Amino acid sequence: MFDAYGTLFDVHSVIALCEQLWPGKGAALSQLWRAKQLEYTWQRSLMRRYEDFARVTEAGLLYACLALRLPLDEERRRSLMSAYLRLSPFPEVREVLATFKASKLKLAILSNGSPAMLRPLVAAAGLGGLIRTIISVDARKIYKPAPAVYRLAVERLRAPKTSIGFVSSNCWDACGAKSFGFRTFWINRTGAPVDELGATPDHVIGSLAELPALIRRPLS
Ligand code: LAC
Repeated sequence: MFDAYGTLFDVHSVIALCEQLWPGKGAALSQLWRAKQLEYTWQRSLMRRYEDFARVTEAGLLYACLALRLPLDEERRRSLMSAYLRLSPFPEVREVLATFKASKLKLAILSNGSPAMLRPLVAAAGLGGLIRTIISVDARKIYKPAPAVYRLAVERLRAPKTSIGFVSSNCWDACGAKSFGFRTFWINRTGAPVDELGATPDHVIGSLAELPALIRRPLS
């Protein structure tokens, strides 16, 4: 089971469009946008004020543009939000998913994204035939790393949690899933230190390409 944003799909593939709209500011905008998007998921979860991920993503964009003093008109807002439906998958994703599918593992996505965001994203990347089960936190109206979200995945997959491997490049998400009871794989693409959250991922790898070697047989 895979996280979506940052794990299968590169959230920073929006930099190109950001850079086109505001030359020299693309990377800073993308970083702050993602940071605020995630902060808002945690803060709203604590406040018990769930709004779906598209609205939270848009709120993060509005904040980031204001903070960086980048004027965001309606047309720019729309084009940036629609870019979020066409994020690039990381280069190794298709081949790795195809390998797993060929070995008859059941593949799923568990993401903060709403179904209306995730379906076009998977389709645009041409991954629809490889990964059909898409589980969204939207069914529980709370964001990761709330245990209710990981429990939702157990219910949907109808499999014991010890048989589910969870893969995320967001360390706090891998820690949350480990704390819940999944076997976890953290994709540490940037050589970051592990988050200090009291539960640490079982495996740390540099990219998804290293995953098949770790999962040769059904998890137990
Ligand atoms: C997700 C966020 C954590 O896809 O990236 O759930």
